[in-house]
This record gives sequence, C-alpha cells and structure tokens, in this order.
Amino acid sequence: MIEAFIFDLDGVITDTANYHYLAWKALGDKLGIKIDEEFNETLKGISRMESLERILIYGNKQNDFTVKEKEKMANDKNQYYVELIKNISPKDILPGIEKLLKDIKSNNIKIGLASASKNATMVLENLGLKESFDFIADASKCKNSKPNPEIFLMAAKGLGINPINCIGVEDAIAGIDAINDANMYSVGVGDESSLGKANIVFSDTNKLNFKYIVENYSCCSNC
Ligand code: BG6
Ligand code: MG
Repeated sequence: MIEAFIFDLDGVITDTANYHYLAWKALGDKLGIKIDEEFNETLKGISRMESLERILIYGNKQNDFTVKEKEKMANDKNQYYVELIKNISPKDILPGIEKLLKDIKSNNIKIGLASASKNATMVLENLGLKESFDFIADASKCKNSKPNPEIFLMAAKGLGINPINCIGVEDAIAGIDAINDANMYSVGVGDESSLGKANIVFSDTNKLNFKYIVENYSCCSNC
C-alpha cells in the first residue's frame, strides 16, 4: 500500500538542474575543464563536494588543489548558483507537478523530499511549495551521496513510513539507484534509455500520472 511519495527536487519539481549545470560549467571554464551536457548527466543527484571531485578527475586535475582551494571553488560555484536561482518563483514549477502533488494529498498520502541540495528548502520556499511537503530530509546531515539510499531512507524515517510503501521520483541515474536500494518503488522522469532501472519512466513531468503510478505499483507488488 502506498503511504508516501518522496521526491527529488532539481530536475523533478523545478528545472534547477540546468542552473547547477551552468554554474559548474562556469567553474570548469575557469579551470580549463570543458563540461558538456553528457558529462553533466553523471553529476546529477551528486553532492556539491563530490561533484567537484568528479570534475577535477574528469579534467585530470585531481591532485592540483589543496582542500582549502577546493572548498573555495565549491563555495564560488554555490554563490553563482544561488545568484541564478534567486528569482525563481511558482511559475518555475515544472508542468504536471502541482497536479500530481494535489492528487497525492487528496488521497491522504504523505509527501517527502530527498534532495542532495543544501539549497533545497530555499528553492521550495521560492516556489511556494514548502508547505506541501510533510518532511524535508536535511542534505547537510546526509553522509553518503546518491546512489547511496541514505537520503531517501532519511525521508522515509522522517515521515514515519516503511520504505517498501514509498514511491521515489527522480530524474538522475544515481537517484534511481538510490531509490531501488532503499527498497522503494522507483519512478523516473526523463530519458527511458538512461533511466532504464526505474520501475516506470515518464518522458517528462507533464506525463506524470498519479493513477497510472498507483496501478503499476499494485501490479508490481502483487506479482
Ligand atoms: C542535487 C543536484 O539535487 O543537489 C546536484 O542534482 C547538486 O547537481 C546537488 O550538485 C547539491 O546541491 P547544492 O545546492 O547543495 O550544491
Ligand atoms: Mg535531480
């Protein structure tokens, strides 16, 4: 029985995934590391510091900087990112999301957030959606970045729901792995060929359909 939906934020609720990309790209340009959309896919869902480490390895500069220098780089990226998102508002909620949240609520199912972003609460506030969430897992308390299931398990615990009765919604490959390893039912949003490990995939948020998800979940748990 479904008792909770647990959402990723960036790229699912709103298109901030693109702003993360732009901010990392700007840092990459400064460092002489070219970050394209394909490499960016491997950063989706990954925490700030781990993303930086991956970028440095990608550019073969993993041994070039001190911890302090890396902290400054991550901080600069974040400042640029915060600048990019400061004007986001309810009009930036991705299509289909408000309807899905409404359908979930009207069926008395809980809603949680499992984002790796330390900016998540601010983004939800700007979107006017904070009150729609019954629990927001705190990324700063999460030790293991997705694909580790920790942040999804934190959200389920905070909601007081057994993971087996949770649906996780994600746009990142690392996020789908995290949901599956948390023993939740996984819903992917995006390209079916890269999110193939999800229980079901919708090509974009506008196609998310509460009834369809519930029917497929029941079928899955019966067979
Ligand atoms: C995830 C994004 O939601 O949050 C990643 O998909 C991002 O791209 C991560 O790096 C951490 O975000 P922040 O806002 O804490 O730097
Ligand atoms: Mg995401």
